[in-house]
Amino acid sequence: MPQNIPSVLVVGAGALGLVAAYSLQEHGQCDVTLVVKFDYEKVCQEGYTFKSVQFGNFSGWKPKYIRKSVEDTKHEYDFIIVAVKNLPDGPEPVNDIIRHVVERSPNSAVILFQNGIDIEKPLIEEFPGHVIMSGVSLINCTNIDRVVDQKNKDSIQIGLFENETIKDIATAESKLKQFVELYHIEGMNTVSLDENVRLSRWKKLVYNASINTTTALVQLDVTRSTICGFKQNLCRPIIDEIYAIAKADGYNIPSEMEDEMLNLSNGLYYRPSMCVDVDFGRMIELETIVGNPLRMAKKYGVPAPRLDTIYHLLQMVQYKTMEKAGLIIMDVEKGVPHKTFN
Ligand SMILES: *[C@@H]1O[C@H](CO)[C@@H](O)[C@H](O)[C@H]1NC(C)=O
Ligand SMILES: *[C@@H]1O[C@H](CO)[C@@H](O)[C@H](O)[C@H]1NC(C)=O
Ligand SMILES: *[C@@H]1O[C@H](CO)[C@@H](O)[C@H](O)[C@H]1NC(C)=O
Ligand SMILES: *[C@@H]1O[C@H](CO)[C@@H](O)[C@H](O)[C@H]1NC(C)=O
Ligand SMILES: *[C@@H]1O[C@H](CO)[C@@H](O)[C@H](O)[C@H]1NC(C)=O
Ligand SMILES: *[C@@H]1O[C@H](CO)[C@@H](O)[C@H](O)[C@H]1NC(C)=O
Repeated sequence: MPQNIPSVLVVGAGALGLVAAYSLQEHGQCDVTLVVKFDYEKVCQEGYTFKSVQFGNFSGWKPKYIRKSVEDTKHEYDFIIVAVKNLPDGPEPVNDIIRHVVERSPNSAVILFQNGIDIEKPLIEEFPGHVIMSGVSLINCTNIDRVVDQKNKDSIQIGLFENETIKDIATAESKLKQFVELYHIEGMNTVSLDENVRLSRWKKLVYNASINTTTALVQLDVTRSTICGFKQNLCRPIIDEIYAIAKADGYNIPSEMEDEMLNLSNGLYYRPSMCVDVDFGRMIELETIVGNPLRMAKKYGVPAPRLDTIYHLLQMVQYKTMEKAGLIIMDVEKGVPHKTFN
């Protein structure tokens, strides 16, 4: 790999990871390596098809380098984009996935293109001082069987997670600036600097901790749920708790966001992605969306009874998903479960 241009590792070949990999490679200012866990052979042979409002329609696209796992990468990288789901309760927490490459790349920046709050904490604890960035994507895109269907233009917010262990702010800021330059293609996508990463993440929770969670719990689309009165009876009370926890954490979510978010999917027979995950028997990002805010509520002494109830009900949903997926095996005789992973 030539050392004169930066190298970027994209971990995760979902829609988000692929649009990032494509944008970076198309812009041509860095070398892109994509980690493809499923369908590796097919991707190597046939590549991906894009149906994109931004880049057009074409097939056979491949990133410059394709690897089956992070362990298969041999180089040091300048940027490591994590675009897999964040599942601390699953078989592969983020730290386990990227440990090898982070240790090998002490000067890299890790960019978490993921949901939820406090997601940087495990990385700060294990890799103190490492530059960690937050990526929030506003894209409407899917990847089904290697067909990337992108319905709106890519727009991302990038910023630095702040922590006292990250002493070298100047390096962190120059990494941030460099990444924005690698990613931003004039007239094609929007890359904005996120000056207040934590506030942005609190804002995302208004929708993600209320509408996603409740629809996921009962597997019902937004319009039908609205007819049943979920907005006033469930979502608003949950959102009020999110506002209160954020406030105790030192962040004021703008009040108008509540109605905006509640109206977002008005009239759409829309199933939020957490609901779709349950539909398809995939684990949900319960800990980073609900568990972490709830732990903060406990820490700050903020009452959050609805969030607490939703959390424990969704834990049961998660258990069911994990058992079906063989991640938990129930010893029916003894009445004890055991995980098939550490
Ligand atoms: C891409 O294909 C879709 C249908 O799959 C079509 O609606 C769209 O116009 C095409 N875009 C371009 C740029 O050809
Ligand atoms: C920095 O990260 C550590 C480890 O997660 C955490 O305990 C501490 O509260 C963080 N500091 C700030 C200011 O967020
Ligand atoms: C995503 O795109 C689909 C198809 O254009 C549209 O129906 C849906 O409303 C969009 N969703 C969001 C959240 O923009
Ligand atoms: C839910 O979180 C994801 C990831 O941060 C974000 O892309 C999405 O916009 C959020 N949804 C809303 C409606 O805020
Ligand atoms: C949300 O929708 C309600 C009912 O349609 C409407 O009265 C209200 O003005 C909307 N609020 C926002 C912020 O869009
Ligand atoms: C919540 O739903 C929105 C809309 O489908 C999606 O963008 C977001 O990723 C979902 N969040 C989670 C945690 O599934």
